[in-house]
Amino acid sequence: MSNEDRSESKIPVTTSFGDVLPSAVEAIGSTPLVELARLTRGIQGRILAKLEYLNPGFSKKDRIARQITDDAEAAGTLKPGQTVVELTSGNTGTGLAIVCGIRRYPFVAVMSRGNSAERARMMSALGAEVVLVDQLPDSTPGQVSGGDLALVEQETRRIVTERNAFRADQFRLQGNFRAHYLHTGPEIIRQSRGGIDAFCDFVGTGGTFAGCAAAFKEHRPEIGCFIIEPEGAAVLSGQRLTRPNHRIQGGGYAMPGLPLLNPEHVDGYLQVSDRQAADMARRLAREEGIFAGFSSGANVAGALELLEGRFKGMTVVVMICDSGLKYLSTDLWV
Ligand SMILES: Cc1ncc(COP(=O)(O)O)c(C=O)c1O
Repeated sequence: MSNEDRSESKIPVTTSFGDVLPSAVEAIGSTPLVELARLTRGIQGRILAKLEYLNPGFSKKDRIARQITDDAEAAGTLKPGQTVVELTSGNTGTGLAIVCGIRRYPFVAVMSRGNSAERARMMSALGAEVVLVDQLPDSTPGQVSGGDLALVEQETRRIVTERNAFRADQFRLQGNFRAHYLHTGPEIIRQSRGGIDAFCDFVGTGGTFAGCAAAFKEHRPEIGCFIIEPEGAAVLSGQRLTRPNHRIQGGGYAMPGLPLLNPEHVDGYLQVSDRQAADMARRLAREEGIFAGFSSGANVAGALELLEGRFKGMTVVVMICDSGLKYLSTDLWV
């Protein structure tokens, strides 16, 4: 049917692209917010889960990849065709591989060999050059410590200098904060009609926590914002490091003083064990049909703790950080 025919038949003619997005970059964000009503059966209160694994790279870190790149392009610190390099546990690298692939920047992901192998494969598939850094001799695969990360940092710096590259520095660049302050946080406020009382988040760079907490506090300062750390590696809450090699990939690096965190927005700290994180990831899959990783399990375990304590009868929001598909090579699903 020609456009002329359509206008005669009173069917509205769409001359624009309608709902078609120009690229996968524009498909980042606007993820659903789902109530975990089955997991909280018999418990007073609600947990709302932001399904970040539905982003194109299957994690929340797509958001920061886009924002860091947008900000650097706007500031002129990233030149057309310049190589982008970043240290990653796999998720930021996947996001950057997507954004850089579409915008035609060569991208080098530097990752510890301790992170799961499917992450490296996925980044390569998306066109990234992946550099794997060996763990410390006493480290275990699947358990990336602060010491392992220091080795990755060293190698990242070397490659940045060697290639005169732009470092998409997720621990320092404001784009990491801004992605969540401008988008993730406000999306949650809109989707829940502002009806949240608390937020807890397992912290890696702290970008998600910092950005969302800033948005929530601006909306309503009483919203309680809690940092989740691995049991035995809770240095942000001032505890001694007794177990650097935990299994919750993507964070808990036991690095005091994360540059993006604003201590004024931290209402408290929670600790979650490997076992609790894994058990909750399994329950999320079985009971809620949400297939996620260890850190998402840690977040939900933290939320349940809040509902059992100070936030009884209230609403806690959490991130479902990445997809369970990223852990098929681990023992999470066996
Ligand atoms: C799976 C996963 N969970 C949690 C985090 C921590 O998020 P953030 O760096 O925003 O603190 C990351 C960060 O890489 C991650 O990959």
